[in-house]
Amino acid sequence: MKLKHLKSIAMKIHILNQQTSIANQFLCELRDTSVQTDRLRFRTNLERLGELMAYEFSKTLLAKKCEVATPLGTSQAEVPVNDLVMVTVLRAGIPFYQGFLNIFDKAESGFIGAYREEGSAKDLMITLNYSALPNLDNKQLVLIDPMLATGKSLVKAFKQCLKYGHPKAVHIMSVISAPEGISYLEESIDHPGSIWTWAKDSHLNEMAYIVPGLGDAGDLSFGTK
Ligand code: URA
Repeated sequence: MKLKHLKSIAMKIHILNQQTSIANQFLCELRDTSVQTDRLRFRTNLERLGELMAYEFSKTLLAKKCEVATPLGTSQAEVPVNDLVMVTVLRAGIPFYQGFLNIFDKAESGFIGAYREEGSAKDLMITLNYSALPNLDNKQLVLIDPMLATGKSLVKAFKQCLKYGHPKAVHIMSVISAPEGISYLEESIDHPGSIWTWAKDSHLNEMAYIVPGLGDAGDLSFGTK
């Protein structure tokens, strides 16, 4: 009898567009076909959503005491421990990753090249063709990819990351997610951590695009391949 693999660790899911905020305006513009034609605005909105998500995420990080001398005395605060390695998937991840880097400016970075062979959602093949990462032992891995569609490229990227050490947690950051992708990550990643997304959309279409989604984030950021 085949035993079903049981996951021992659940990842916490954060869906951020459930409250009114300026971020929803950036998200609406990303989706809006009449605004998407402005590539600079598209990249800027991804970057802003990266910055705002990084800020929300920073509230959940382990903190340490920071004391500084001001011209008139001393000031203390709790600041996040700097143990992040932020890894993005090329090329679509770059603007969203840049937003994270603007906030976590002391974090280390890594890059993974991945592309999807055109195919249906069922038989979609993801090929990795590049990776450059620092050592991940005992670090918190932040995997950044704006579109969490099937989840296959993120799971492949995560497995590739594990060749660079054993992170103590993995946090997946996306702008728009499909329910199928979230479920696939939950089934496939047995590691402490969390999944963050601005929006959880309806479903994937037969070509593995998110519906309603926004289209192809890489093409809209940088032009058609
Ligand atoms: N990648 C994208 O850019 N868009 C999707 O809808 C799915 C994957």
